[in-house]
Amino acid sequence: MKVSILMGSPRKKGNTAALLEPFIKELEQHYVEHNLIWLYDKQLEPCIACRVCQKDWTTFACHYNDDAQEIFDNIIACDIIVLATPIYSWYCTPPMKALLDRLVYGMNKYYGDKMGPALWAGKQLAIVATCGYRPEKGADLFEEGIKRYCKHSQLQYAGMLVERDLGYQSVFMDAEKAQHSCLFAQKLIKQTCI
Ligand SMILES: Cc1cc2nc3c(=O)[nH]c(=O)nc-3n(C[C@H](O)[C@H](O)[C@H](O)COP(=O)(O)O)c2cc1C
Repeated sequence: MKVSILMGSPRKKGNTAALLEPFIKELEQHYVEHNLIWLYDKQLEPCIACRVCQKDWTTFACHYNDDAQEIFDNIIACDIIVLATPIYSWYCTPPMKALLDRLVYGMNKYYGDKMGPALWAGKQLAIVATCGYRPEKGADLFEEGIKRYCKHSQLQYAGMLVERDLGYQSVFMDAEKAQHSCLFAQKLIKQTCI
């Protein structure tokens, strides 16, 4: 089993990174192979709807020569995709949004003259999010968007771990959040093994 973690926080020592730590430790305890990709360290151009990617049904085929190709390869080789992001203006951060747009075209060959395949069909996709509002008001729209994204892309939506940040003056991480993170990793491992 392989897990590809796409990390959308700009803060290497931020809340989302802290929430991911026990999740990753749990994967390691179960010998689950994983990749952590920091999206702010990558060059990710926004999709311009040129549809060059629609001419080749076998691979990504995007006309840009940036880091999205390497992420595409990583996703193709994995079983579970994890979108880890702080919520910014009710959605994910900009590099993750740029990547989601690049992948919805590059992976789904739906937009050419004929309807083609979804190259990532059947993979699981999960969310690990942190937000300032209560989760049901902070991360709800992102979750809904991703649920639809999964349905459209023939991915299996595997659920969301979300924790609230009470502000810069308070300590974000605690034992309860760490336990939620471990349990979420265990849940994903179990779901994928069945
Ligand atoms: C530019 C910006 C926009 C934000 N927008 C939202 C938002 O729409 N909803 C929300 O609940 N929290 C919002 N937040 C709060 C962050 O989601 C929260 O502090 C998060 O835990 C930060 O994670 P990080 O430390 O990994 O960056 C925003 C924070 C920033 C900096």
